[in-house]
Amino acid sequence: MGASKYTKGCTGWLIVLIVAAFVVTAVVVSLRKKGHHSDMGPVPGPPGAITQKYADALSVAVQFFQVQQSGKLVNNKISWRGDSALNDGSLAGLDLSKGMYDAGDHIKFGFPMAFTATLLSWAILEYGDQMSAVNQLVPAQESLKWITDYLINAHPSDSILYIQVGDPDLDHQCWQRPEEMTEKRPLIQINKKNPGTEVAAETAAAMSAASLVFKGINSSYSDLLLQHAQNLFTFADGHKVSYTITYPELQKYYNSTGYEDELLWAASWLYHATGDQSYLSYVTVQNGESFADWGRPTWFSWDDKRSGTQVLLSRLNLFGAKDSTNAENKGLGMYRMTAEAIMCGLLPDSPTSTSSRTDGGLVWIDEWNALQHPIAASFLAVLYSDYMLTSRTPTFSCSGVTFSSSDLRKFAMSQADYVLGNNPMGMSYLIGYGDKYPKQVHHRGASIPVNANTGCDGFQWLKSPNPNPNVAVVLFCWRSFQE
Ligand SMILES: *[C@@H]1O[C@H](CO)[C@@H](O)[C@H](O)[C@H]1NC(C)=O
Ligand SMILES: *[C@@H]1O[C@H](CO)[C@@H](O)[C@H](O)[C@H]1NC(C)=O
Repeated sequence: MGASKYTKGCTGWLIVLIVAAFVVTAVVVSLRKKGHHSDMGPVPGPPGAITQKYADALSVAVQFFQVQQSGKLVNNKISWRGDSALNDGSLAGLDLSKGMYDAGDHIKFGFPMAFTATLLSWAILEYGDQMSAVNQLVPAQESLKWITDYLINAHPSDSILYIQVGDPDLDHQCWQRPEEMTEKRPLIQINKKNPGTEVAAETAAAMSAASLVFKGINSSYSDLLLQHAQNLFTFADGHKVSYTITYPELQKYYNSTGYEDELLWAASWLYHATGDQSYLSYVTVQNGESFADWGRPTWFSWDDKRSGTQVLLSRLNLFGAKDSTNAENKGLGMYRMTAEAIMCGLLPDSPTSTSSRTDGGLVWIDEWNALQHPIAASFLAVLYSDYMLTSRTPTFSCSGVTFSSSDLRKFAMSQADYVLGNNPMGMSYLIGYGDKYPKQVHHRGASIPVNANTGCDGFQWLKSPNPNPNVAVVLFCWRSFQE
């Protein structure tokens, strides 16, 4: 990546997101129970045989979260990372030292960071047992908690949420390791006078999804998350202004194109976490028609949660929602119908298949972090496929042509395999996986040797023609001893 890119600087979290989504795609694809074959395929069950390639990919992917950690590290396994940003939040008397950096730089952007936590929670909730079979569940839970601890501290009262630490303009003028940062770390807050609906709602989604993850681990932590989530949702729904309208200078980074999707997404997670009927009514009879874009397929991303909501609520349509009314069930049916339209767009042989694909078969929507859309879409496809299997739903139809859960799985595997090297370049795009992967990534920590002492001006390392000195992988050394 050239120097021109870091001034735009907004792709970092997308990488984290890709990893979060990848966690699921990789594991699910790898750890199917090898059962007897009925026409429909076996109901997803406990982990079966492990496909080493995907298990390896998952472990590389999960390490990325450790690379991104801010604050005083605990059990740090990344040799070239250390403590950093210990005083973040002190300007407001808060401890905002945890959380994660925006991949290549050192800003903590609340909007995509919260989305990462929501997605990581979803991955753990649906596939935690598979992750556990390859020893990745605990690191994933720890990474999630590193973000939710931060989010709790960033929400010191009902209608105040800190949504950013650091000044991107200042940060982008420096190329330095996070451990060496000396620049000011200003804070940005949303409140009743300066609202930010989507970031408050996304944070509510993250906290309610995470409350489900931690329910069986620490119930008081889980309850705490849920309380914060409910308060934040009330704040978000009661003060509807986009955060990038309130703070136009943030449009350069993670510009939001609307908050309706985050409100539905948050309420859907809150319904799952609480069972409170009012959230179900919120997403169906009250706001479904106006917010959900029923019938229209969309792409899943840090900015757009519509398709994620469609799939999450299909879950309720397929498995049933307790005590729901006819009107609510009708709404859930609309969500599922839209989820199927999304799936029809992904399948290469469907009459309504997207034409946005490369010759190599990768879904291609955006030059900015080109992998975010295919991988996020694959995540949804794997989920929908497993929801079909579990609910014994044999097929769905795309303009009269019938497809099954295994078609969705095949699509998801094609995208995952592309990322892992089955592509025209023969290159893995998961850094640290395989023999051939990009060696000059736009990442301050990866590009600067630990002992370089650059101060702010380490740009020679950005421009260096040599491979990055730091890659976060110990896996293959370990494996070569085993083999
Ligand atoms: C459980 O969570 C609470 C609330 O965050 C915390 O105070 C407590 O230390 C946690 N317990 C354990 C065993 O981690
Ligand atoms: C940010 O998004 C809004 C809403 O879609 C749009 O009007 C605005 O032009 C965008 N800003 C930038 C800098 O792209």
